[in-house]
Amino acid sequence: MSTAALLPDEDVIEYLAAHEKKGLLRFITCGSVDDGKSTLIGRLLYDSKLLYDDQLATLENDTKRHGTQGEKIDFALLVDGLAAEREQGITIDVAYRFFSTEKRKFIVADTPGHEQYTRNMATGASTADLAVILIDARKGILNQTRRHSYIASLLGIRHIIVAINKMDLVDYSEQIYRDIDTDYRKFAEALGFQSIAAIPMSAFEGDNIISKSSRTPWYDGAALLPYLETISVRGDLAEKPFRMPVQWVNRPNLDFRGFSGTIASGTASPGDEVVVMPSAKRSKIERIVTQDGEFEMAGFDEAVTITLTDEIDISRGDIICAGQSPAELTDQFAAHLLWMSDEKLFPGRQYLLKTANRIVPATITELKHKININTFDHQSAKTLELNDIGYCNLNLAQSVAFDAYDDNRRTGSFILIDKRTNATVGAGMIEFSLRRAQNVHWQNLDVGKPSRAKAKHQRPCVLWFTGLSGSGKSTVANLVEKKLHDMGRHTYILDGDNVRHGLNKDLGFTDADRVENIRRIGETARLMADAGLIVLVSFISPFQSERRMARELLDEDEFIEVYISTPLEVCEKRDVKGLYAKARRGEIKNFTGIDSAYEAPVNAEIDVDTSEVSAESAAETIVEHLESKGYLEG
Ligand code: ADX
Repeated sequence: MSTAALLPDEDVIEYLAAHEKKGLLRFITCGSVDDGKSTLIGRLLYDSKLLYDDQLATLENDTKRHGTQGEKIDFALLVDGLAAEREQGITIDVAYRFFSTEKRKFIVADTPGHEQYTRNMATGASTADLAVILIDARKGILNQTRRHSYIASLLGIRHIIVAINKMDLVDYSEQIYRDIDTDYRKFAEALGFQSIAAIPMSAFEGDNIISKSSRTPWYDGAALLPYLETISVRGDLAEKPFRMPVQWVNRPNLDFRGFSGTIASGTASPGDEVVVMPSAKRSKIERIVTQDGEFEMAGFDEAVTITLTDEIDISRGDIICAGQSPAELTDQFAAHLLWMSDEKLFPGRQYLLKTANRIVPATITELKHKININTFDHQSAKTLELNDIGYCNLNLAQSVAFDAYDDNRRTGSFILIDKRTNATVGAGMIEFSLRRAQNVHWQNLDVGKPSRAKAKHQRPCVLWFTGLSGSGKSTVANLVEKKLHDMGRHTYILDGDNVRHGLNKDLGFTDADRVENIRRIGETARLMADAGLIVLVSFISPFQSERRMARELLDEDEFIEVYISTPLEVCEKRDVKGLYAKARRGEIKNFTGIDSAYEAPVNAEIDVDTSEVSAESAAETIVEHLESKGYLEG
């Protein structure tokens, strides 16, 4: 860095050591596409002489090639890293930049302003202490300003700098500055910020960026950089109770057993009492080992290996907590959820939830509302779409240790992962555990599935028929049941058309309703298998996720997927109920195969096409499968 290069050689080591000890401030910048955000960061780096010389040379060259500012250096080029972005003239990803001054180190997340990139902003905001919200002085507060402020608040940012930019284009008008400042404070009242500073500036001209500008004599606050260097962002994770989610159990030999991870909050020293969640086992810290040797104390964000004075069972994903204030344990909580996928969220569908190194299956049991982040209104919603923010209840397959997001951003946040694609689809902030989880226990029953099955002399299982409407599911299932019944087996058929007249009569055919339809049937089939029955399920069940969820509700080998793979053309030609014709005429919406998706099974245990074999022979194939796999013994 050019500042370092100016120092005499012998001082360099000392200088770097001093640098090491400086505090770190993480901040994000947010603004609309042309608020001048990149110019601001570029100016900050350039004017504080914090650029490497080769970066400067590149910048000067780039200005000649891509610049939009004539002969002046185009600072935006410094920050808009990607070529593609330059061509589109917008920033499209989160770019983290590191810089440092005499007083502080900084990591700035430059996040795109386009509405569809809300999720990028959330990514940047989740680790930031402060947000710089850019406002074009000519335009004042926009929906975008409200949206960014809301997300910043939701993600736990407590300090805001309102950068009222482009003051040069409003003749450095004090009145305009004051009006925007007042408006902003008024609307931000509800957002719980600890500090708000409004700074009039021109990133383009360099006013109030590094030092106070003579063009705003009426402004008595600090310029941006000095403000960033001195603001105190207390109450951060360093001061919270100790938490370390275990990333891996480190056992190089029999004499050493350490638990490695990054300290998520607080500090730790040998002798400190700890409690490990979820087991709630207690012990004391024996040693803290790092790459640089043993430590007497380690703090927030440090990667360490901890050994304990007692041999207790700890595995990846457990959280080592301060003895006096352990994390909570729950399998149900309320949370804010930011949806980040093009595929909609469906309550009832099973996702994977990842929190502090632990992954567990989870479903959204209730979507309470969606937040209109321009007005902060709560709207009722059945689903969330890309960039929507919702408030919901979640149910996890296993209890996890957590803190409320308000108390700890690291152990209070989670992401949701799509089981099929492995993509991250949502980011969540935990509000609180639902007390229900603590008050509803499993009732221990004396008669279990094995004894119920034994009394019926059979092995319970679920034959899950899936396929298009008219493919022959119900016909084949009916024949299979007759055969099993004749063999003295105890069976039951759950059929889509029939169940939709009773248990599921409140559901229609939107994707969300189908997800809920199949979730309920999966649960019902499980109960029936638990009763010892051979259950035949005959539903279109168009989505892989829900069929997989039904499979996972049952024991190994209890779920037999039967794909009735009769092609659409054949089903449509049969059109026993006349529904395809209606769908083609547009009289029925969301009809499977016409204007609603069907995801064919990839690994069904049985696949039969009733355009190639008769229903009778299909039924025989299925019964033979049951016989050959030993389902009918007993
Ligand atoms: S599922 O997709 O949610 O599994 P389900 O098997 O319960 O569907 O119900 C399908 C039956 O409902 C079909 O056999 C058909 O008779 C009838 N039906 C009415 N409207 C539709 C529609 N839009 N799409 C598919 N089936 C429909």
